[in-house]
Amino acid sequence: MEEKTKQLLDWSQWGCQWIDHLRRQKTLNRELERHLHKFEESFTKIGRQATRMDKTEAIELLPALIARAEQVQEQFHHFLRLAQLTEDERFDEPTMAHEELLETEAVQGAQEALAVTPAQMNQAAIPAPAAYQAVRDTAREPVRVARPVAPGRHTLPPLPYAPNALEPYIDEQTMRIHHEKLHQKYVDDLNTAERKLVEARQSGNYDLIRHWERELAFNGAGHYLHTIFWPSMSPHGGGTPTGDLAEAIQRYFGSFDAFKQQFSQAAGKVEGPGWAILVWSPRAQHLEILTAEKHQNLAQWDTVPLLVLDVWEHAYFLQYQNQRDKYVENWWNIVHWPYVQERFQQARKLRWEPF
Ligand SMILES: [Fe+2]
Repeated sequence: MEEKTKQLLDWSQWGCQWIDHLRRQKTLNRELERHLHKFEESFTKIGRQATRMDKTEAIELLPALIARAEQVQEQFHHFLRLAQLTEDERFDEPTMAHEELLETEAVQGAQEALAVTPAQMNQAAIPAPAAYQAVRDTAREPVRVARPVAPGRHTLPPLPYAPNALEPYIDEQTMRIHHEKLHQKYVDDLNTAERKLVEARQSGNYDLIRHWERELAFNGAGHYLHTIFWPSMSPHGGGTPTGDLAEAIQRYFGSFDAFKQQFSQAAGKVEGPGWAILVWSPRAQHLEILTAEKHQNLAQWDTVPLLVLDVWEHAYFLQYQNQRDKYVENWWNIVHWPYVQERFQQARKLRWEPF
């Protein structure tokens, strides 16, 4: 029961985070903003109801609340697709995507879920059938910000400011080489590694698996970390964080100054190439400062582990001695997929713009 309540809170938070993200990233027309506001109310209401329910009420109310939350979520996915289409200006009339939103069966359900009347949602005229079909076809495409990146199709994210914008703190030449040359190389080599692994899966030839796994990690970590690095800086940056983040820093590190000092010390003492990284632990529900010495140590930062297999000798040596392959082969008989599926479901709620 508690787990279900927590899931509702997660959904509510997920929706609100998305709405914040959209408002920061996009200029939405008034109609879309109106719907966004309704979704925001709806997600907030779900979260509030989940928090307030006591145990007796939960038995009675949870199933209905979950059904409603699922409905709102589905609608929101649909809304995201259409908001994205509108932003891309694929259609002559930007509000058409919105009309499509109003027309779908699913949205009729959402009207209830969102507690708005059909008249409130559908104030504008229905577009002509031909254009309407075009919208419908393209609307099936996934949202850009949630689009899966196919193997070998990573791209270099653009800098969110001019290459000289961070001067005098980081000069233009450094930025250009760092972004245009070095980051691009990570992208290219990550794409190569992913394509080579596709070939290996097709041919069943894994002779070079160790090499390509290393390439995957080195270049994947490099690409993902730089993708986080560029927007983490701004010519208008500096100062101190506010809101939830400020509170979380205060709570865990004691003060912003203590956090800053530990982060700077950690960064200064990284041996050789590496990174200082502020992370959030979904399990411990707190922040932490980590360093990555040689990010190529076979990890891709910015990914979420779903299924792990311990191949330290202590995990199998007593029984299998040096036959690690046998242990690995047998291990597949005991994998608990529902747990992996649960982690996958939670992890995939995180959606960041793909590059
Ligand atoms: Fe770098």
